Amino acid sequence: MSKILAAVAWPYANGPRHIGHVSGFGVPSDVFSRYQRMAGNDVLMVSGSDEHGTAIQVQADKEGLTPQATADKYHRIISEELQQLGLTYDLFTRTTTRNHTTVVQELFRALHANGYVVPKTQLGAISPSTGRTLADRYIEGTCPLCKYDGARGDQCDNCGKQLDPVDLLNPRSRLNGEVPKFVETEHFFLDLPALAGSLGSWLDTRQDWRPNVMNFSLQLLKELKPRPITRDLDWGIPIPLNGWRDNNMKSIYVWFDAVIGYLSAAVEWARRKGTPQAWRDWWENPEARSYYFLGKDNITFHSVIWPGILLGANGQGDRGGVPSQFGSLNLPTEVVSSEFLTMSGAKFSTSRSKVIYVRDFLKEFGPDTLRYFIAVAGPENTDTDFTWEEFVRRTNTELANEWGNLVNRTISMAFKNNGAIPTPGTLHDSDVNVLGVAREGFTTVGGFLERAKFKQAITEAMRVVSAANKYISDCEPWKMKDDPERRDTVLHTTLQVISDANTMLTPFLPHASQRVFEALGGTGLWAAQPDLIEVSEEGNEDYPVLMGDYTTQLASWESKPIEVGCPLAKPEPLFGKLDEALGETGPEWAAI
Ligand code: MF3
Ligand code: ZN
Repeated sequence: MSKILAAVAWPYANGPRHIGHVSGFGVPSDVFSRYQRMAGNDVLMVSGSDEHGTAIQVQADKEGLTPQATADKYHRIISEELQQLGLTYDLFTRTTTRNHTTVVQELFRALHANGYVVPKTQLGAISPSTGRTLADRYIEGTCPLCKYDGARGDQCDNCGKQLDPVDLLNPRSRLNGEVPKFVETEHFFLDLPALAGSLGSWLDTRQDWRPNVMNFSLQLLKELKPRPITRDLDWGIPIPLNGWRDNNMKSIYVWFDAVIGYLSAAVEWARRKGTPQAWRDWWENPEARSYYFLGKDNITFHSVIWPGILLGANGQGDRGGVPSQFGSLNLPTEVVSSEFLTMSGAKFSTSRSKVIYVRDFLKEFGPDTLRYFIAVAGPENTDTDFTWEEFVRRTNTELANEWGNLVNRTISMAFKNNGAIPTPGTLHDSDVNVLGVAREGFTTVGGFLERAKFKQAITEAMRVVSAANKYISDCEPWKMKDDPERRDTVLHTTLQVISDANTMLTPFLPHASQRVFEALGGTGLWAAQPDLIEVSEEGNEDYPVLMGDYTTQLASWESKPIEVGCPLAKPEPLFGKLDEALGETGPEWAAI
C-alpha cells in the first residue's frame, strides 16, 4: 500500500466554476484518486479555494463587497459544485485560514533564512487614475517575443513565455484601458537561479511526464530569473519579517501562498482527523508519491516555482541551509497538466463570454455525463473544442446505448426469466473469452490510470462494454427458450462482465456505478461521495469544507464473482437519452 498525495489546483474564489476549470484539475484528479483507492493505496487528496490576490480584489470591487466577503461567497459556491460533481477530496479547504497563514509564513521565513528569498527593487505598475497597483495579469499588451497582441503582464498565452509587465509593448490596463505608470518599489524575490542546479537534477530524475509538461519545464529551467514573491497589495498574507509584518500595503504574492496550500491543507486535514502528525506520511516519507493536477497555464508554478520553494525551504539549493520546521519535504512525483477546453476555438475563459457553468450543466445533465465527456473527449493532450453535438452524441451512443442498454436489457432479461442471478452451466469458449477480456481489462485500464492516461483508460473500459454487447448479440439468449441452461449461462456470463466493467468505470462514473452495483443486487456503499461540512474558526463565519470517508466503500480494483441466486429487480434506465436537437443549439442557458 503506497501513500499517494493527489494535489489538485486551487480554484480562485472569484466566481462559479465553468466546465473548462473542472476539466483541467477536477475530474482528472478525482478519477486518479478513486482508482488509487480502489487499487488499495492510501490517498490524500487536497485542495481548496485560492482566495488572496488581485483576482479576488478585482471581483470584490466589481460586486461592492470586501475581498473576504467575496471569497466567502464563492468558496461556498465552488465547494457545492465540486461536491455535486462527486470529487472525493480528503480536504477541500481555503487559503484564508489561520493554519494556512502560519504554514506560508514559516516557509517564507525558512527560505529567507536559507538565503533564497532576497529583497530587491523593481519597477511596478500603478494605475494613474486610482493610484493603486496594477497586478501583472491585469496588464495587457504586445508580447515582445512573438508579437501576440493579447499577452498579459505575467505571461504570453500564445508563446507560453514568462513576461514582466515592463517588457510588454504598448501596455494597457485590462480593467479600464489606461496606460500604466511604472514606479520603483521594493519586493522580495525568490532567487530561482540559486535553485536552478538542484531543480535541474530533480527534473532529470522525473519519468513518464506528459511530453508537453516536461518540455515546457525544461525550457523554463533555461530562463530562470529571480521572481518577486511579494506585491503592493493589502489583500494577502503579511510578510513575516521585522519591518514588513505591519506594512499592510505589501503582502505575499498569491501564487506563492496558493501552492503552499498543498502542504497546509495536509496539515489541516491531519488536525481535523485528530492525528495532527499524519500529514508527514505523505510529505516526509520518501516512498510516498505525489501527483499534481492542473491546467497548462499553471505548469510554471507547479514544475518550477513550487519545487523551487520546496528545495529552498529544505535547504537543498546552491546556498545550502537547514530544513524548515516541516522537515525535508517531498517534491512532486509528477505534474499532470491538461491543455485547454475551448469552445468554438475561443479559450474557455470567463473574460471571453462563451461560458458553460458547472452548476447549470449539473442541474440539467447530472455529474456523470460531464465526467465521462471530460475523460473521453477532454483536453488531456491538446486543446480541445467542446461542442454540444459531440456531448449529445457521446452521451446517447456511448453512455445510454452501449453501456446503459447493456445493463438494462441484461438485468431485465435475467429478472424476467430467473428473478435472480442465474446459475451458469458448462462454459463454452465464447463465454471463457469474454470473461477473459473483462479480467484483462483490470490490468490494461489500471495500467493507464496509474499513468494518468485517462482517455486510453476509459477507451479500454468501453472496449470491455463493447465486447459484452457483441457477445450477447452473437449468443442471442432471447432465442433460447428451449435451452434454459445455455440461456442462464449466457446471462450469468454477461452479468459478470457487466459487474467487471462497472468496477472499471467506477472512477469515471461513480454515481452510475453505485446504481449498477445495486441493480446487480448489491447492497451497501459501492462508491463513496464527499460530504460538505460546516466548520468554524474563531472570529470568522462558519464555512464549508469538503471531506469524506472513502475507506469504507466496497469498490476495489478486481473482478468480484457475482452471486448466484442474488435477487434482481427490474432496473431503471441508467442514462436518459438527450434530444438530438440539443446537439445543434445547446441548452438555452448556454446559447452561443
Ligand atoms: N487559482 C489558480 C488558477 O485558477 C490555481 C492555483 S493552483 C495552486 O489558475 F496550487 F497554486 F493553488
Ligand atoms: Zn508571446
